[in-house]
Amino acid sequence: MKFPVSLLVAGAVATEYSQIPFQETPGVEGFQTYQSQYSEEHSIRIRHQQNDTLCDARSKQYTGWLDVGGKHLFFWYFESQDTPSEDPLLLWLTGGPGGSSMIGLLQELGPCLINEHGNGTVHNKYGWSKNANIIFVDQPAGVGFSYVDKDIPLPATSFTAAEDMHRFLQLLTSDVFPDLRHREFHITGESYAGHYVPALGAQIVSQNQLYPKRTQVNLQSIFVGNGYVSPLDTAFGYWETLCTTNPGIESPIFNQTRCDIMANHLPRCMDLTRVCYNHPDVEICQAANKVCWEGVIEHYDGESGGEGGRNRFDITHPCVTPDDLCYKEISNLNKYLNLPWVVEALAVPKAVANYSVISEDIAYAFDLTADGAISTQPQVLYLLDNGIDVLFYQGNLDLACNTAGNLQWANSMAWKGQPAFVAQPKKPWKNAGKEVGWFKEVRTETRSGRETTFAMGTIDGAGHLVPYDKPEEALAMVGKWLSKRSFA
Ligand SMILES: *[C@@H]1O[C@H](CO)[C@@H](O)[C@H](O)[C@H]1NC(C)=O
Ligand SMILES: *[C@@H]1O[C@H](CO)[C@@H](O)[C@H](O)[C@H]1NC(C)=O
Ligand SMILES: *[C@@H]1O[C@H](CO)[C@@H](O)[C@H](O)[C@H]1NC(C)=O
Ligand SMILES: *[C@@H]1O[C@H](CO)[C@@H](O)[C@H](O)[C@H]1NC(C)=O
Repeated sequence: MKFPVSLLVAGAVATEYSQIPFQETPGVEGFQTYQSQYSEEHSIRIRHQQNDTLCDARSKQYTGWLDVGGKHLFFWYFESQDTPSEDPLLLWLTGGPGGSSMIGLLQELGPCLINEHGNGTVHNKYGWSKNANIIFVDQPAGVGFSYVDKDIPLPATSFTAAEDMHRFLQLLTSDVFPDLRHREFHITGESYAGHYVPALGAQIVSQNQLYPKRTQVNLQSIFVGNGYVSPLDTAFGYWETLCTTNPGIESPIFNQTRCDIMANHLPRCMDLTRVCYNHPDVEICQAANKVCWEGVIEHYDGESGGEGGRNRFDITHPCVTPDDLCYKEISNLNKYLNLPWVVEALAVPKAVANYSVISEDIAYAFDLTADGAISTQPQVLYLLDNGIDVLFYQGNLDLACNTAGNLQWANSMAWKGQPAFVAQPKKPWKNAGKEVGWFKEVRTETRSGRETTFAMGTIDGAGHLVPYDKPEEALAMVGKWLSKRSFA
C-alpha cells in the first residue's frame, strides 16, 4: 500500500483537551477564541448566530474560523434539531477541488436552503441536522470563506488538506465543544470528497494510533455521495453510463458510432492511468489524463456547460446556467453570501475580498500536483482494515462520478470482504414502500478485530447532487446508515 509521505510523518503539533467549554460570553465582534494549549499556531474563533434570518435552521448555529498558522478555515456548525447532546457529529465536505461546502449547506442538505431570489433562505425539512449535529467546512484553506495569509502557499493535495482538517477536529472536539469529544463522528461529502474524505479518515486513524495520548477523533464511518475515488474506473464508467440504459433511462445517450470510438480508446486510457497510479509523477499523470480526455471524456464533457449544453451531473437534464456548474441555486447562493448584511452577520474578515463558490486557484494548485489523477482506493482499504465503516452511494444519472465506475473500483478492492462483495447480487432498497435503488453490503471482521461494514448503494432518478434531487430518500438513507449501517 502506498501512502504519500505526508500521511506518515505529518503533524507533530496537536492540541489537547482543556475543560473550558464554549461560553456565551462573546469577545471581539461576538467571537469567542480558543487557543490550543499545545501550539500557538492553532486557535478557533467562534460566534453564536442568534438570528435565524441568516439561515432558517431551527437549532443552535455557530460560525467561525480555525486558524492553523497562516491558514484560516471557515466553518458553520448546526446542532441537531433532535437531541444535540446525544446525536452523532457529521462533517460535510463539498468537492471540487475548490468547491465551497456552502453548496452542500445551501443547495442540498443543510437545515436551510437558498431561496429562488438569492436573498434569503427557506427551512429544509429534509436537512441532515434533523437527527445529527453537522459541521460544514470550507476547505482546503483558500476555498469559499476560508483564506490564507500573504506568502502562505495554498494547500495543493488532499493529504495537506487532511492535516489541517485533523487539527481542526481535535480543537473543536476538545477545547470548543468538549461534549463532542466522545461522540460518534462521521465524515461525509460528495464528488471530489471521494478524495478528501478517505484521505482525512486515514489521517485521523493514523494520528490516533501514533499519538494515543493526544485528542483522539472518534471516527466511526465515512460515507460519500458520487465520490471521485478512482479516475481510471470513472473514465471506464463513461461508456456504460452513456452507451447503455443501465443508469435507468429509456435509450442510451450516445449512438453506436460514438460508443465505438470511446470503446476503442478505453484500453489505452486504462493502461496509461495505471502507469500514473504506480508512478504518480505529474507529467506521467497529465499524459494519461490527455489520452483519457481526448479518447473518452471529451465526447461528452466537451459539449457540456452553458445554457442548454450537456450536464455532466445529470445525463437527463440540460445545463441551465451560462457556466458549467449548471444549477441556478449555485449562482443564487454565491450572490447571497456576498450580500453586505450576510457578510456582516458572518463577520467575514477583510482578507476575504469576495465569496466565491469555486476557488480556481485551489483547482489549479491541485492540478499541478496530480492529486486528482491518483486513486484513493488505498485509503478506503486502510480505513476498512482499521475498523471504520464505509459507504459510497450514487445518484444513477450522474456521469462525472458515475455508478458504473464506483462499483468497479469497489469490486476490484482487495480486502477480506471482496469475494463476498463481488458475489453478492444487487438488492433493491426501499423507502416508504417505494423502491429507491440497489445496494450491496458486506459486514466482516477485519484486521483490526472489529466488525466492519462496506456498503454501496444507489438512488434512481438522482444525479450528482443526491440530496438536492431526492431529499427525502437521501435523508432516509443517512438515517439507515447512522443507526444500523445497513440499507436493509
Ligand atoms: C436578524 O438579522 C437581520 C439581518 O441582519 C436583522 O435585520 C434583524 O433585525 C435581526 N433580528 C433580530 C431579532 O436581531
Ligand atoms: C427578495 O427578492 C424578492 C424579489 O425581488 C423580493 O420580493 C423580496 O422582498 C426579497 N426578500 C428580501 C428578504 O429581501
Ligand atoms: C452520432 O452522434 C454524433 C454526435 O451527436 C453525430 O455527430 C453523428 O452524426 C451520429 N451518427 C449517427 C450514425 O447517427
Ligand atoms: C468582488 O466582486 C465585485 C462584484 O462582483 C467586483 O466588482 C470586485 O472587483 C470583486 N473584488 C475582488 C477583490 O475580487
